[in-house]
Amino acid sequence: MPITAIVGTQWGDEGKGRITDLLAADADISARFNGGDNAGHTVTVGQAIFRLHLIPSGLLHPAIVGVIGAGVVVNPRRLIEEIDQLAAQGLDVSPARLKLSAAAHLILPTHIALDRAGSGGLGTTQRGIGPAYAEKAARSGVRAGEMADLEAFAERVHAAVYSGGQVLRQLYGQEPPNPQAVAAEYYGYAQRLAPYVTDTSLYVYDALRAGRRVLAEGAQGVLLDLDHGTYPFVTSSTTVAGGVASGLGVGPQWIERVVGVCKAFQTRVGAGPMPTELTGPEGDRLRGTGEQPWDEFGTTTGRPRRCGWLDGVALRYAVRVNGLTELALTKLDVLSGLGRLRLAVAYEYRGERLENFPTTAAVLAECRPIYEDLPGWSEDISRARRRADLPAAARRYIDRVSEIAGLPVTIISVGPERQQTIVETSKAC
Ligand code: IMP
Repeated sequence: MPITAIVGTQWGDEGKGRITDLLAADADISARFNGGDNAGHTVTVGQAIFRLHLIPSGLLHPAIVGVIGAGVVVNPRRLIEEIDQLAAQGLDVSPARLKLSAAAHLILPTHIALDRAGSGGLGTTQRGIGPAYAEKAARSGVRAGEMADLEAFAERVHAAVYSGGQVLRQLYGQEPPNPQAVAAEYYGYAQRLAPYVTDTSLYVYDALRAGRRVLAEGAQGVLLDLDHGTYPFVTSSTTVAGGVASGLGVGPQWIERVVGVCKAFQTRVGAGPMPTELTGPEGDRLRGTGEQPWDEFGTTTGRPRRCGWLDGVALRYAVRVNGLTELALTKLDVLSGLGRLRLAVAYEYRGERLENFPTTAAVLAECRPIYEDLPGWSEDISRARRRADLPAAARRYIDRVSEIAGLPVTIISVGPERQQTIVETSKAC
């Protein structure tokens, strides 16, 4: 098994960290290929809850090496905080276990300020993600590899903060961060992070050639992909499986398995159309109260997530755009106790039936879901460890999701704990 890619089939928050944690038991390397600390993965191991934003979730397994690939944008302050937090929780996060791509771009305070000032109605996570990728595309960004030469790095940071500050002042009338102070701060970060910087393309390539197994951990989901998501209500990176090869710097032929993580219902944070959204008590019921870490409130921002029924049209789109080979269905237990379940199987748009996900957010905003109703179940399913342990209505729901996607469901999560999972890899393609 060379590369197994794990990607989101929705608007992020599908439970990818959890599935990565499970599949990491058979992997040697766990790698992030896109996004930055806008991502938030919560993994519960026994009494311990780990919240990860930048560091690959697979690192929670002691034998795994984590890789932060070239496609990721890295806030060095946040990376250091996360390293320190995981170390305080007893994990080894030394440079032997974590590799940061020399080609990964760094997020600067100006990016964060520009994100806050300029991303208006998009409802971004305000982590500076969009401005950092914009600067990368404009070929003026600062890369992690530059930290090797501390003096030159500090000068580059100074220049980048100065020019970003001009935009802040002129466009938004804001007082920019002090370039001198930021350069000094980043000099300190570089001293700390330089030992982690690696040619990760070569590292991953050599590992693959030596027969090691790599998990590529996607952040966000297909509907937030810069090209294929509900533009402009998207993030600024490639969230789909196609991004694995470019984001890690290895060829696509190494990718063998593409696991689409699909929550048993739909959620979205931030602005943009969501045809199956439930704004009343049913939506509140799916969201939970926020008392539990696995309730539907953002790991990164704490914002309540918009909740709704599972969208089968979007799921079929995720299958196509990612080339999924199987599905992992998460949070099935949240549906327990609902009398009736609904699944969107098509949309109605201006009187016509649409089978395929539209290419523009404007059309999606006018789409109404065409639902199929299925019976619910009232039993507690959190102790099920085989599909046969589930009530017939739950099995029927899973079968219908599988039929809509045209793929086997190989993993089902029935509770927040690591072991509350049904794994049927024999069903994998
Ligand atoms: P950005 O990635 O911070 O630029 O935010 C762009 C859009 O993506 C916003 O709607 C965010 O709420 C959404 N987003 C970014 N990261 C995540 C995530 O990890 N989960 C869910 N939504 C996300």
